[in-house]
Amino acid sequence: MPEFLVTGASGMLGRSWTRLLETRGIDHLGASRAELDVTKKDAIERLLVPGTKWVINCAAWTDVDGAESHPEDANAVNGLAVRRIADRCLRVGAKLVHYSTDYVFDGKQSSPYRVDHSRAPINAYGRSKAKGEELLEQSGLEHLLIRSSWLYAPWGKNFVLTMRNLVRTRSHLRVVDDQRGRPSSCDHIAEATLGLIQKDCVGTYHVCDGGECTWFDLASLVRDVVNPDCAIDACKSEEFPRPAPRPAYSVLDLTETEQVLGPTSDWMHRVTRMLELLEGERRIRGG
Ligand SMILES: NC(=O)c1ccc[n+]([C@@H]2O[C@H](COP(=O)([O-])OP(=O)(O)OC[C@H]3O[C@@H](n4cnc5c(N)ncnc54)[C@H](OP(=O)(O)O)[C@@H]3O)[C@@H](O)[C@H]2O)c1
Repeated sequence: MPEFLVTGASGMLGRSWTRLLETRGIDHLGASRAELDVTKKDAIERLLVPGTKWVINCAAWTDVDGAESHPEDANAVNGLAVRRIADRCLRVGAKLVHYSTDYVFDGKQSSPYRVDHSRAPINAYGRSKAKGEELLEQSGLEHLLIRSSWLYAPWGKNFVLTMRNLVRTRSHLRVVDDQRGRPSSCDHIAEATLGLIQKDCVGTYHVCDGGECTWFDLASLVRDVVNPDCAIDACKSEEFPRPAPRPAYSVLDLTETEQVLGPTSDWMHRVTRMLELLEGERRIRGG
């Protein structure tokens, strides 16, 4: 039986996890939604069997705006399914890594949110993720609850890749500068989580890149690496009304994680390295 079961394995973070486990030669099963729908009890029982040591739950409803009109669907995946997975883990003797979000906080702080800060989500997605956190804590299962924010990877749907495409095809962009957070490399999240597992950590940890920025800062860095000729102006969130409100400040405090794993390298370094690799590959392909 594989030691690790990764749910949501075809998602952004799930792909980083299965790649990491492959690279490290760790026996694992990566299950996509089609193979393991976490809202289905029988699917969980079929794949989460005795012998599994860790479940890495990367499955999630991540459509933040869509959650406003489909809160029950978001709750089913981000809330109720977490408890179901936790209960099954208790039954088969597995431990659980579950991922959550900066959006469980209200965004009213002006200093980083500590791991034990009270949850006060301001949108339906945040409420569904907060529910998942509560249900996991109530389950009595030994677990790692990892909060992260502003995920990016060389694959999937994320802000860095969206901006990479836009700065290449447009001469001028406007990007909001009134939301502040910490970008997070999916490869780093997977590696840091494995580091925490290997150090026998349990409880709640925050894992993000170091440093903090606004979406405008992040877009400007992408522009600097990919196409310095594209102009970017800062604007305010109210100019881009969206169904779900976003927290204005959602920087996650990394103290506990850095005590275990040491200092985290900053977002500028990681984003630049990823983009340089992608641009290098594009040039080789002649794109
Ligand atoms: N993305 C961010 O900026 C961000 C920020 C903070 C925290 N997080 C958290 O980080 C974790 C990973 O997010 P991500 O960015 O990797 O998300 P993602 O790319 O959207 O991946 C989520 C995966 O879950 C799958 N999924 C959805 N419903 C499922 C179900 N019922 N059963 C099984 N799988 C299901 C999706 O499959 P389909 O594609 O087939 O639907 C997708 O493969 C999540 O817990 C998320 O809440 C993300």
